[in-house]
Amino acid sequence: MLTRGYITCGVPYVLFGLAKGLLGDFTKGDPLPGRSGKNAEVPYNWTVHTPKSGVEIASFNCLECHAGRFNGELVVGLGEADLDFTDVPMGALVDNLPILDIFPGGVIGEINKFVERYKAVGPKIKMLTVGTNPADMLAVALAAHHNSDTLAWSDDPLLFPPEIMAPVDTPPWWRVHKKHGVFYNGMNRGDHRGR
Ligand code: HEC
Repeated sequence: MLTRGYITCGVPYVLFGLAKGLLGDFTKGDPLPGRSGKNAEVPYNWTVHTPKSGVEIASFNCLECHAGRFNGELVVGLGEADLDFTDVPMGALVDNLPILDIFPGGVIGEINKFVERYKAVGPKIKMLTVGTNPADMLAVALAAHHNSDTLAWSDDPLLFPPEIMAPVDTPPWWRVHKKHGVFYNGMNRGDHRGR
């Protein structure tokens, strides 16, 4: 979960130092003890890996929302109750892209992918209040851009879900095994997920 690339969209690692300045709170965390190589150098909520494009990227991992501070100490699995989605910081990154023309093809390809994804979902996950989390609506926004048979990405939405925001709170992971269903809608009862 903290070393593999299950999110295939991210910031090319060669640019991560630059992106860090533009991603604000999302990149301010310390490295997580116990990780090795480049993962030992990036904040706990990012993972460095190489997707099919062959370009090494840093992408968010689950700890973006699922690691919080208690008495000043980072607790893996605790929901980050004060995460701020009121100003989606990827906007600053996207607006500052022209300088990136100097980078070679594969890197540009990864950046374009990141920007396309951001443009599609960024505005839909902006919250009114610090501490409310858009994860469920992020899933809906991403689903609207994937072909339901092939899962291929489409820049244009293929579905038009209602323009509503259902804010959620990130629960601690250690309660999951005591639950009959997870998430606000109590889903994953007895199917292949979350048993
Ligand atoms: C953008 C923030 C965010 C990210 C990233 C994220 N989650 Fe969550 N997660 C949430 C929120 C918010 C909920 C509660 C949603 C709800 O109740 O409907 C949740 C719920 C869950 C639950 C159910 C917990 C329960 O008690 O109902 C599990 C398990 C979980 N996440 C695992 C993961 C894993 C594994 C990853 C990485 C692959 C991940 N999450 C990435 C925000 C996030």
